[in-house]
Amino acid sequence: MGSPRREISVRWEKYVIVVTGATGNVGRALVAALVAAGEQVTATSRGITDGDVPSGVRTRRGDLVDADSLRPVFDGADTLFLQNGGPSAHLLNPNDILDAAKTGGVRRVVLLSSQGIATRPQSSSHGETGRSIEDAVRQGGLDWTILRPGGFASNAFAWVESVRAERTVAAPFGDVGLPTIDPSDIADVAAATLREDGHAGQIYELTGPALITPRQQAGAIGAALGEPIRFVELSRDEARVQLLRFMPEPVAETTLDILGNPTPAEQRVSPDVERVVGRPARTFADWAARNVAAFA
Ligand SMILES: NC(=O)c1ccc[n+]([C@@H]2O[C@H](COP(=O)([O-])OP(=O)(O)OC[C@H]3O[C@@H](n4cnc5c(N)ncnc54)[C@H](OP(=O)(O)O)[C@@H]3O)[C@@H](O)[C@H]2O)c1
Repeated sequence: MGSPRREISVRWEKYVIVVTGATGNVGRALVAALVAAGEQVTATSRGITDGDVPSGVRTRRGDLVDADSLRPVFDGADTLFLQNGGPSAHLLNPNDILDAAKTGGVRRVVLLSSQGIATRPQSSSHGETGRSIEDAVRQGGLDWTILRPGGFASNAFAWVESVRAERTVAAPFGDVGLPTIDPSDIADVAAATLREDGHAGQIYELTGPALITPRQQAGAIGAALGEPIRFVELSRDEARVQLLRFMPEPVAETTLDILGNPTPAEQRVSPDVERVVGRPARTFADWAARNVAAFA
């Protein structure tokens, strides 16, 4: 009589969607949306910890400027949400990132790019670097979708300190409106394009539902707080000094150009959020209400 057969059960765990920039405004909301939809997620950034994500999400540290550091991140994945590297964008080697992703098993990539690729093609910061990342994604042999958002509602977090201390917002170009986008809407569009078929080869331009000026944004934060907010209009030079604390000069100059002298394309309200997720884009007032605790 032979020995009894032992049943060996192996439980494979797959973390199939990789989210880069997972601790950021978009990435955090995207991880939450994917988890709510029952997806298995690997969340990555340079400094991520398990405390940054819901339980059940795998975290792996990696640096987008060092594609080799991403190899363990991509292991077992089939889908990638790739952000454009923000201030490090010019240091990225997108072909190396995509090669590492393909080696790990990735077949679909959704790139978080920027509206400036189309509207400021001559700008080295907003146009050229971003364009080379988009080109690599388009030519990388994966199913691709590109998201091009305009300015984020969450840029208003720059006003947290002055609102908390003095109930004041200081910004340039107080009466110039832009269709600011809620990062949660970018996340919802990203979740749909990562999970559903039918988005390959699409470029979605993502904006909010209406133009809103900095003065009106200050008013919306005040309404959320239930207290008036004073608006102080800065000159372009004063605003440049502030921006240079967060970004290099070419990025600051193009940002000021967009804020002060937007092109018709930058002021156009895009239908793409509603096209993809089937509901209108959220308003700035909605963003302010959900984030009011930061300003209190
Ligand atoms: N704000 C706007 O108006 C606007 C408009 C259009 C496009 N965008 C683009 O949208 C993207 C996401 O914006 P967000 O507001 O969600 O960003 P965010 O809140 O600033 O977060 C950035 C995320 O990326 C990670 N990160 C930064 N550098 C990295 C690197 N070298 N390697 C790996 N991870 C890195 C950060 O975590 P660690 O620090 O832990 O690495 C963090 O998770 C940005 O790349 C930005 O360029 C922004």
